Amino acid sequence: MQNLPNYLYIAASVLFIYGLKMLSHAKTARKGNMVSAFGMLIAVVATLLLAELEIKWILLGGVIGSLIGAAAARLVKMTSMPEMVGLFNGFGGLASLLVGWAEFHKIHTDPASGSLFTLIAIGATVLIGGVTFSGSMIAYAKLAEKMEGKPILFKGQQLVNGALLILAIAATALFCMNPASTYIAFIGMIMVSMILGVLVTIPIGGADMPVVIALLNSYSGLAACAAGFVIMNNVLIVAGSLVGASGLILTSIMCRAMNRSLANVMFAGVGATATTGKTFEGEAKTVSATDAYMMLEAASSVVFVPGYGMAVAQAQHVVKELGDLLEENGCEVNYCVHPVAGRMPGHMNVLLAEADVPYEQLVEPQDVNPTMTNVDVAVVIGANDVVNPAAREEGTALYGMPIIDVDNAKVCIVLKRSLKAGFAGVDNPLFFAPNTRMLLGDAKASITHVVSEFKA
Ligand code: TAP
Repeated sequence: MQNLPNYLYIAASVLFIYGLKMLSHAKTARKGNMVSAFGMLIAVVATLLLAELEIKWILLGGVIGSLIGAAAARLVKMTSMPEMVGLFNGFGGLASLLVGWAEFHKIHTDPASGSLFTLIAIGATVLIGGVTFSGSMIAYAKLAEKMEGKPILFKGQQLVNGALLILAIAATALFCMNPASTYIAFIGMIMVSMILGVLVTIPIGGADMPVVIALLNSYSGLAACAAGFVIMNNVLIVAGSLVGASGLILTSIMCRAMNRSLANVMFAGVGATATTGKTFEGEAKTVSATDAYMMLEAASSVVFVPGYGMAVAQAQHVVKELGDLLEENGCEVNYCVHPVAGRMPGHMNVLLAEADVPYEQLVEPQDVNPTMTNVDVAVVIGANDVVNPAAREEGTALYGMPIIDVDNAKVCIVLKRSLKAGFAGVDNPLFFAPNTRMLLGDAKASITHVVSEFKA
């Protein structure tokens, strides 16, 4: 009975790992989320049993937190999910920072109650937690378009960041040596970590935002892991390292998708001084839904390329319906998803899975690009940056990012509402290419129109 909490911790850790594995596939992701959440419930109950705490206030906090979390998850629009994830990452960092603070306060009043190891762990928790919190607030503001998404750079930025890091380490050394009389060093450390979080996040922007989201997610896990060492809680150490490690893997996947190194994304401020691409002269050729229907009806191979606009229009179900009609018409249909399309890792995959698009029809850009010249019609549904040929031109903010080469298809139909640039702010020459046809309007309305033409 005495070991019950530890057995429960093991059960919770197994559920976290199993749930994480299920999250790696769209089909099992929803269940994976539930499995992990159940693991967390077990971990919370075990912790309350272990600590034999006065649980009145903890229960009150738990109820208030659960109500806020449930309301946020229910009320948030699908297109605002990335900002919400950004905020939750930040709150994870802040929670770890507060655990570190509470523990420091205890040691400050009773220095005999803490060891040097605990104080160092507190330093790591506060530093990573503070950076995660303020960095996530900047990421939130950029994603919610409450501040400019472009990278912000100033002279000597790396030097200032380096100096702040040294200051944070010095403050940790100070309060480790004498926790009883160095509260001011501890508070200074919190402030320095928050400033550092802002300064390391503002140079990342535009098309590189996926990397910063994955990285902050990883930091929130590392902060929780460090907090686990502060209070010597096994399950917090396990859960924190799982989030930290999986976030790092995601960061590396996102870097690969952008064809950039992590150092390049974090320190180079890609796009800060880049041009927005050429200004294009001439007219884009627009078509009606009826024209688009006729092109599609005659096609024997079609590739759909979804982007953020599909999420905004919630067009995934009609896209699937059109795909089915094309298949019935004897056409080969595939869906090509760029890893950074949308605003969250896997954003498009989730939408296509929701519409029951079979996995066999999902193709990778690197597989479809070499044979794109054989594709009769590439249909771009609210995608922009991920199909922007300006990424091949040195000097643009997208330079170097691999794109889906829809401009090589025999015909490319682009569905969007205007000729405006995408998230990275780079004008798109695809709209003016000789084989491109612009079907302007809301993507869902346009495709619904094409579907009704097919049915008629
Ligand atoms: P974007 O470049 O963001 O372009 C989306 C396009 O959708 C817009 O140009 C918009 O044009 C169109 N659109 C919006 N609402 C529409 C509607 N109702 N119907 C039809 N079209 C609509 O999208 P993308 O190609 O998916 O690229 C994603 C970008 O976001 C990349 O730069 C990526 O780095 C960045 N990003 C990605 C993530 C992750 S993790 N995936 C996170 C943060 C940032 P109109 O206004 O003319 O309609």
